[in-house]
Amino acid sequence: MKTIEGGWPAHAKFEPTFLGYEYKDEENFRKEIEKIWMKTWLLAGRSEEIPNVGDYFTIQLENENLICMRTQSGNVHTYFNVCRHRGSRLCEEGTGNMSKGYITCPYHSWMYDSETGQLKSAPNIPRDTEEFSCSQVHLHSVKTELWDGYIWINMDENAPSLAESFRLPESWVPYEKYNMENLKIGAQDTYKVKANWKLLMENASECYHCGNIHPELSRVTPPTSQRQWIDESIPETEVLKHVGAMKLKKGFERVNMDGKAYRKPFSQLTADDESAIYYVHIFPHSYICMASDYVFIAAMWPISVSETLVKGYWLFDPEALESGEPIQDAVDIWDVTSQEDWAACEWAQKGNQSRVYESGGILTPIDWRVANFKQFVYNKMEDL
Ligand code: FES
Ligand SMILES: [Fe+2]
Repeated sequence: MKTIEGGWPAHAKFEPTFLGYEYKDEENFRKEIEKIWMKTWLLAGRSEEIPNVGDYFTIQLENENLICMRTQSGNVHTYFNVCRHRGSRLCEEGTGNMSKGYITCPYHSWMYDSETGQLKSAPNIPRDTEEFSCSQVHLHSVKTELWDGYIWINMDENAPSLAESFRLPESWVPYEKYNMENLKIGAQDTYKVKANWKLLMENASECYHCGNIHPELSRVTPPTSQRQWIDESIPETEVLKHVGAMKLKKGFERVNMDGKAYRKPFSQLTADDESAIYYVHIFPHSYICMASDYVFIAAMWPISVSETLVKGYWLFDPEALESGEPIQDAVDIWDVTSQEDWAACEWAQKGNQSRVYESGGILTPIDWRVANFKQFVYNKMEDL
């Protein structure tokens, strides 16, 4: 484990932020959707959210809506929520179950097989003629892969695999002991934030603000203490960033509201791990916070240039959930911290609209991870 003195690496420097228009310009936002969001792996949810055949949840990303569902064979597939007949939404609910795993359009009842996306029936339409055959009509599908219980999707049909993009398992080695595949959701929440999506990831990329706006979190993990980074031998990838560990203050046993232990730590952790919380960021839109007795995840979804939906998940040892151990301490610390973060992002969104912010602001060395994120966005925007 490497500790960086002073909180930032030698290459960190002063440099400009994103420009003001990049937080409010519709055309730039459209380009970001095409260049970044339609081409990268996105954290759609957890496999356990859809345990039974036909279970589904939907995802909104700007104008696109997707259905992620458990198919007839027990796989997880994702489709654009668009009927091939005349383009109706196939389902309007955020979650639900499609009987026997068939997707039936509410408009004229075209019915699709969720395993293949193929049209199975179209009432009163002559079938298998020269002009029209059900076997030739499929829902538009989205690449879907599972990893450690997470569902990942990519709308680019030519995208490299998840393992290749994230350099799994090498880049994931430090976190295997959290056994995330087997953890279960104890709580979920969604937050609507009136800010451009980049501000949320920028905010997550620095703890410069922690002492100011997170009194609860800072009490347990003081931002002034040195952060420990993952060893350099563990690769960071274009999208997967090891943000390191923050140590608990002496006298605090857990990262929660009062620092007291309400659950056992995960069984494979060392004493050192038990006194820390690890953070990993996955660009463009998610982060995973690994405490010794729970994991908190946030995934951001742009709804418009100035509005972002955040999905939060709290994962626990299934035995702790089954035995009814309390989880509110963990839920509260990240609920209150998240709301503090979203309020700050909204302050920044308001200020960034001003004519005096047209040429942007100043990133300092302590914002070096914000600078990394900016570079990721710029690299993607330049991709052909
Ligand atoms: S639009 Fe779906 S069946 Fe007509
Ligand atoms: Fe924060």
